Amino acid sequence: MCHMSTSAAEHWDTVYGTKATDEVSWFQRQPTTSLRLITSMSPPSGAVIDVGAGASPLVDTLLDAGWSDVTVLDVSAKALALVRDRVNDRVNEPAGDRPLDLPSERPEPASFVVANVLSWQPERTYDAWHDRAVFHFLVGSEQRDQYVATASRAVRPGGVVVLGTFAADGPTQCSGLPTARYDAEGLAAVFEPGFSLEHSEREEHMTPGGAVQPFTWVVLRRT
Ligand SMILES: C[S@@+](CC[C@H](N)C(=O)[O-])C[C@H]1O[C@@H](n2cnc3c(N)ncnc32)[C@H](O)[C@@H]1O
Repeated sequence: MCHMSTSAAEHWDTVYGTKATDEVSWFQRQPTTSLRLITSMSPPSGAVIDVGAGASPLVDTLLDAGWSDVTVLDVSAKALALVRDRVNDRVNEPAGDRPLDLPSERPEPASFVVANVLSWQPERTYDAWHDRAVFHFLVGSEQRDQYVATASRAVRPGGVVVLGTFAADGPTQCSGLPTARYDAEGLAAVFEPGFSLEHSEREEHMTPGGAVQPFTWVVLRRT
């Protein structure tokens, strides 16, 4: 397990260390579907975690939308360093623009967790768990069971998992790694009985290179 998590960290650190964030196939300028699904299912006063967030602008978008309890988790320290710098730049204006009596550093607007979701031990619960294009890398049933067990502990009863994976007719690999593909019923089956399917939809993601990648999105409610 340790070995696997080290190699996952190395793999993804290499990706984020060698490619610009707007070059990767999963890049999107606006996380429109994610924001709509999170916002429609869970109140902005709630706690949200973006699992395998990478350098996604979702955290910025959630903060703009009024969410104040946002956690960002990724196995890649490199990816989270990019996000942390970007997000902290929002609040730490240059000293010249700041009244003198304000402290030079304000509390960070989001929480950052560098961890492999398969071995992470959540220390609190969340109202919404978001995952875009991470779960589909779990191609073994043991990994999937581990993920679902952690999500079950981290999401409060009545909370939601908002999950986007490659669709049944989506790609068979991404970033050099094999991927599993799902329709909504297939995804829901993995999360039953602890979660029940509340909503599903299809999205066709356009990569920066111009390829179309069909995604299955589900909202699963923790029972
Ligand atoms: C395809 S990218 C998607 C990034 C982001 N969710 C988005 O939509 O832009 C997959 C992300 O999951 C992260 N990741 C992969 N396996 C992981 C794991 N086992 N635990 C935590 N993060 C993981 C990678 O570092 C990467 O940032």
